[in-house]
Amino acid sequence: LFASVELAPRDPILGLNEQFKADTRSNKVNLGVGVYYDDEGRIPLLESVRKAETALLADAAARSYLPIEGIGSYNQGAQKLLLGADAPQIAEGRVLTVQALGGTGALKIGADFLRSLLPQARVAISNPSWENHRALFERAGFPVETYAYYDAETHGLDFEGMKDSLNALPEQSIVVLHACCHNPTGVDPTLAQWQEIASIVKARNLVPFLDIAYQGFGDGLAQDAAVVRLFANANISMLISSSFSKSFSLYGERVGALTLVTASADEATRVLSQVKRVIRTNYSNPPIHGGSVVSRVLNNPELFQLWEDELGGMRDRIREMRHQLVEKLRDRAPDHDFSFVLTQRGMFSYSGLNAEQVEQLRAEHGIYAVSSGRICVAALNSGNIDYVASAIATVLK
Ligand code: LMR
Repeated sequence: LFASVELAPRDPILGLNEQFKADTRSNKVNLGVGVYYDDEGRIPLLESVRKAETALLADAAARSYLPIEGIGSYNQGAQKLLLGADAPQIAEGRVLTVQALGGTGALKIGADFLRSLLPQARVAISNPSWENHRALFERAGFPVETYAYYDAETHGLDFEGMKDSLNALPEQSIVVLHACCHNPTGVDPTLAQWQEIASIVKARNLVPFLDIAYQGFGDGLAQDAAVVRLFANANISMLISSSFSKSFSLYGERVGALTLVTASADEATRVLSQVKRVIRTNYSNPPIHGGSVVSRVLNNPELFQLWEDELGGMRDRIREMRHQLVEKLRDRAPDHDFSFVLTQRGMFSYSGLNAEQVEQLRAEHGIYAVSSGRICVAALNSGNIDYVASAIATVLK
């Protein structure tokens, strides 16, 4: 039966974790996967999470099945975080949210739903994009192409190219947009540029799928949701995949959500019924624990404030690492200008290192990065940053 099965290549991001684990060097550094580590190099257990879990344990209950769409208070919390607590779209009953298995799970539910709704559509992702976007939408049955996005020369946005690409897409093409902290480049359009993007999306009748996995890691929770609100206020129907993996440091709990903003309450009811069918035929209903923790924090003002402060702490530490990295590279590789790292947002820096240099970092220094040159700045700390900067300077020679 399985004789003809070919060996699949390693996953370009999670495969690095497997390689990293097997590496026996004591000075190894994992800048591959998008995970936040504290200054001691540990994945933090947030105090807000610990408190929520303690409270949950105190009123431990039996675990029945959740509804197909997940925990109601979790879904409401997630949509308020995206659209704002007093969003008119929520008051009008036009927004629906389902709990999902991480941001990836949300993308997959959305992709499967869209595939039955728009079987002829194509999907456009940014060039470059998160490695899994292409694979995920292709597996859902869509042809996937790219729109211009990153300008390697300026280390910034190719906005004219992006607009041209979007304007050239056929109507009802699905456009995957990173609502903040673009993965892998860390380069985001300005709000004024987003206005123009929204106008094109509307005029060309495109279907926006906003992916927001790093809310809170740019400027703050509300600030990072500005694009979602801009699209909603422009009366654009859309899908939004969001994730609490990074913002709650709950990677393994698979805490994500798919939110759809529709044109009317009646539409929302019908859409929810179809999205539930997608979930039911994939994994039936989501797990309880992670969603309960997040829901407790989102719906308790004290815990929410604590969480927001902790998230701010993570954001500040990443900024500090960006500054230090640029400084240390200025000393060690004075011929190279890395100041662009300071304008990139979120966890990542598209470092400009090529695949060969990335491989050299791994082979000779035990430093792991994605072959595109993406490094996770959130994995730098005061103990490894000198080593990393020196190694980068060496491979640049
Ligand atoms: C990343 O881009 O590293 C993260 O989103 C983790 C993942 O699933 O790839």
